[in-house]
Amino acid sequence: MINGLLILCAYLIGSIPSGLWIGKIFYKIDIREHGSGNLGATNTFRILGKKAGLIVTVMDVLKGTAAVLLAMLPAFSEATIHPLILGVVAVVGHVFPVFAGFRGGKAVATSAGVVLGYSWPLFIVLFFTFFLTLKLTKIVSLTSIIVSSVALIYSIVYYFVTGDFALFILVACLFSFIVYRHRANITRIKNGTEPKVKWI
Ligand code: G3P
Repeated sequence: MINGLLILCAYLIGSIPSGLWIGKIFYKIDIREHGSGNLGATNTFRILGKKAGLIVTVMDVLKGTAAVLLAMLPAFSEATIHPLILGVVAVVGHVFPVFAGFRGGKAVATSAGVVLGYSWPLFIVLFFTFFLTLKLTKIVSLTSIIVSSVALIYSIVYYFVTGDFALFILVACLFSFIVYRHRANITRIKNGTEPKVKWI
């Protein structure tokens, strides 16, 4: 019962469509009708600018973190569900949000938030890897896929060192999800038509 309640809460948290709400409330724009059509931080930066992009990034990251930390609240002390499962559920909510017609984002920022809630050292490593890779490639989607691959490699090494199989399973699920959601981006990257960022 309590595990079911936590799963529902994690899904609802993940479903908060930050980009849609910020766009509609402050700019009267549905960002899904512009740019890549994605309801994520990258498309928010692209369509609404740095300020909105930054706010949506922080909100989307914190959704994943909040879901992972939910299971640690004293009110849910009897829950037996693994916090990382709640993180994955939040990512599912982010991608298929009940509050936005199930048309959401590509899982990257909320996945990063899950990592932050579970293993902040890994988050720091991925954070710097992201900016270094973005500086070299100038393509956010390619950077997202590369950083997800780095996370996967890290989780495999971490498993052999610490025996933490849960982190490996979580990252493998999120990695598969992220690559799947970037299908159109991968085609554009191959064709050389994926947009590049100019600000880094
Ligand atoms: O986080 C999503 C990013 O990797 C790609 O976004 O809008 O360029 O498809 P977008």
